[in-house]
Amino acid sequence: MTVTAWAPGRVNLIGDHTDHTGGFALPAALHLGTTVVGEPGGDVVTLTSDALPGTAVVRLDVDDPSSVEPGWARYVAGVVAELRPTTGFTGHVTSTLPVGAGLSSSASLELAVAAALGADLDPRPLAALGQRAEHRASGVPCGILDQLASASGVDGHALLLDCSTLEVTPVPVPDSIELVVVDSGERRTLDGSAYAQRRDEALAARADSDDPVLQRRARHVATENARVLAAVDALRAGDAVELGRLFTESHRSLADDFEVSTPTLDALVARLLATPGVHGARLTGAGFGGCVVVVAEPGALAEGWIARPSHGVCRQSTDG
Ligand code: GLA
Repeated sequence: MTVTAWAPGRVNLIGDHTDHTGGFALPAALHLGTTVVGEPGGDVVTLTSDALPGTAVVRLDVDDPSSVEPGWARYVAGVVAELRPTTGFTGHVTSTLPVGAGLSSSASLELAVAAALGADLDPRPLAALGQRAEHRASGVPCGILDQLASASGVDGHALLLDCSTLEVTPVPVPDSIELVVVDSGERRTLDGSAYAQRRDEALAARADSDDPVLQRRARHVATENARVLAAVDALRAGDAVELGRLFTESHRSLADDFEVSTPTLDALVARLLATPGVHGARLTGAGFGGCVVVVAEPGALAEGWIARPSHGVCRQSTDG
């Protein structure tokens, strides 16, 4: 039997650094993602990849995913440790996502591997499994945003996530609104970034504090949650100008109050905002590098790639 599993990356349209405190986010699963093709059998999981170096060889009883080599095999090991499949797998990984660009290449790998290894594709438990796998693999205390988006994608729709209930509400993206992803080229891993510190600050900022830093973090989270709901209204109304305004406000808040932007990202956003037909732009995902997402008039931007909201993780098996 040959199994083919695919899971998308995601672009977060708005609502960054809100997932830890049970807030709102509005990602879309992307048409770009990770494919795993192979055959179940044996008692190890062995995966090769076009783009990633080395071979992942993971025992079904692996107990410390974070120490597995090569580095990308840690995500495979994290999934194995959480899923505990009883049968191994031999296969190959391909990806159409840039790695480390803030488009959730790791969540996409985790969910594609989990699907290939036979996981139940029910979005919420699968997303939670992927999140735990990521924690075990990387030690980065990521929220549920990336995995829930990859698990729950709907063609042509953004996804309103309520991170307190994990409820997902698909919101159609009208043809009149073009969402373009532009890669800054600045690469980062969250491992070693201020990501964990920001998460701790966002959690600490839930209590009233005199600390001006925590007050700014709290202001970002509160205003960002409100912007997500306003962005849903703007999408439903087909109001690209208002959506763009919210994007640009979100970028300022992430840069000034949450302090996760970089000079490269700020310069890219400023340049894009000066382009005719662009209504708004913001960093997407964790920050510290990666991509910018833009609301533009269709055809206005001659760079980046148009985000085509996609369906979520899927799997196909063929005999032979
Ligand atoms: C990364 C994390 C998510 C989320 C975003 C910021 O993508 O994996 O859980 O915290 O950053 O919104």
